[in-house]
Amino acid sequence: MKDIIDELEKRRDNARLGGGQGRIDSQHAKGKLTARERIELLLDENSFEEFDMYVEHRCTEFGMEKTRVPGDGVVTGWGTINGRVVYVFAKDFTVMGGSLSQSHARKITKIQDLALRNRAPIIGLFDAGGARIQEGVDALGGYGEVFARNVAASGVIPQISFIMGPCAGGDVYSPAMTDFIFMVKDTSYMFVTGPDVVKTVTNETVTAEELGGAKVHTSKSSVADGAYDNDVQGLLQMRRLMDFLPLCNESGVPELETQDSADRIETSLDTLIPDNPNKPYDMKELILKVVDEGDFFEIQPENAKNIITGFARLEGRTVGIVANQPLMMAGVLDSDASRKGARFVRFCDCFDIPIVTFVDVPGFLPGTAQEYGGLIKHGAKLLFAYSEATVPKVTVITRKAYGGAYDVMSSKHIGGDVNYAWPTAEIAVMGAKGAAEILYRSELSDPNKIKARIDEYQKRFANPFVAAERGYIDEVITPSATRKRLCRALNMLRNKQVETPWKKHDNIPL
Ligand code: HXC
Repeated sequence: MKDIIDELEKRRDNARLGGGQGRIDSQHAKGKLTARERIELLLDENSFEEFDMYVEHRCTEFGMEKTRVPGDGVVTGWGTINGRVVYVFAKDFTVMGGSLSQSHARKITKIQDLALRNRAPIIGLFDAGGARIQEGVDALGGYGEVFARNVAASGVIPQISFIMGPCAGGDVYSPAMTDFIFMVKDTSYMFVTGPDVVKTVTNETVTAEELGGAKVHTSKSSVADGAYDNDVQGLLQMRRLMDFLPLCNESGVPELETQDSADRIETSLDTLIPDNPNKPYDMKELILKVVDEGDFFEIQPENAKNIITGFARLEGRTVGIVANQPLMMAGVLDSDASRKGARFVRFCDCFDIPIVTFVDVPGFLPGTAQEYGGLIKHGAKLLFAYSEATVPKVTVITRKAYGGAYDVMSSKHIGGDVNYAWPTAEIAVMGAKGAAEILYRSELSDPNKIKARIDEYQKRFANPFVAAERGYIDEVITPSATRKRLCRALNMLRNKQVETPWKKHDNIPL
């Protein structure tokens, strides 16, 4: 019996070596951890249960029968993060660049099936070159099966992708169908085809970093939702993110104990808004001062900074925060900000996470660049996402809510449940200057006359009371009491139920 157990340990040790010590050393030399080291850091200590560590590929083309490695380039299983179950797979770059064979795909689909059936999140740690070239269509088919499961699980369990090395082909398309993608700065890349293929096809010379580094995907392409300095920092942030997320679409949000009182009054908010309506202020200050313990997990912090999205908690329960950022382009809504906001709102709605919206928006960004880029369709995405969301929606207008953007940003008219305004709110079709100049064009040549018109418009419309008189605003609140008001509103909305007409699915303007 002892011999048999020794043999088992030997097999396990061999499998744990993946592509061998040399390749593990080379992985470390690049500043990257191995697949198993990553899983150890991601999950609670000793909670990982590995499956299929002896699985090998069955390919015999190109002499592949001589390169069989137990585990076949992916480590799969389940464990816990702060006691809650999560399924995980981690690509092992030391084995044929983490490329995907049919057997490798089956290991992943087994975990995907378990995650979906048992309604728990799945996290993929990617460091891989896509379909295994030697396997041809078997590998492509394998990826197809992974993709189909990504889609089946979408909106049922959270799916998170963490890109931790060079990734191509299916190893970027599968992440693209998950809820969030994170990257590691300087060591991770995402591209459909790498720099060599780019050179051959388009004659462009480009480095991996320029083509698909973390900077490109967090600030230019918006493919990634965040990036971290190294593997360790990123994995700890993934643990933090998971604490905000529900296990599935029917589990309800997690509830964490908090010492932060729901009644906390934040007097500094009473002076947050500058006297000059054209002066910016930092909306993040408001978010951090209102949410539990100032704990805010921002999504896409480097992309479309004119809108802020992220997770926080109020009275220990997760909320999604969407806020215009006056510090960046005066908080205007453009195509990128609309897409960013819409995707976040839809995630929250899928997973029953209430949405808190802070509004200070001068409107949609005018101009040919935006119109040619499809602002109408992109802006409509945000409008559509808010309108279809049935989760509790609480809105606070801090300053400007102008034009169509007023409607879009979770207004009462599209289903906002509780809509508050600060006394500094200005709810109007446009700013006073623009309005006066259109309405009184004939008086433009007389600066005194036009100034009087601007003042008149400002006085009449640049306040929250016209909207409040009509019931579009439920109450004008003191800024310092915002946290208390939000907590009370969300408590009141806990059992919100909405009947929607039967449909297969909607047709959001993509
Ligand atoms: C088989 C692969 C592989 C692959 C890498 N390797 N990708 N083996 N199939 N797809 C092997 C390499 O041969 C090498 O083996 C080892 O992994 C490490 O790769 P390197 O190239 O040395 O590493 P690096 O320079 O860091 O470059 C990593 C890389 C590059 C950017 C991922 O390897 C690459 O571009 N690979 C091909 C990517 C690709 O085109 N994949 C197919 C996509 S099609 P040795 O033994 O030499 O160390 C696809 C279809 C899905 O995925 C469908 C999408 C809709």
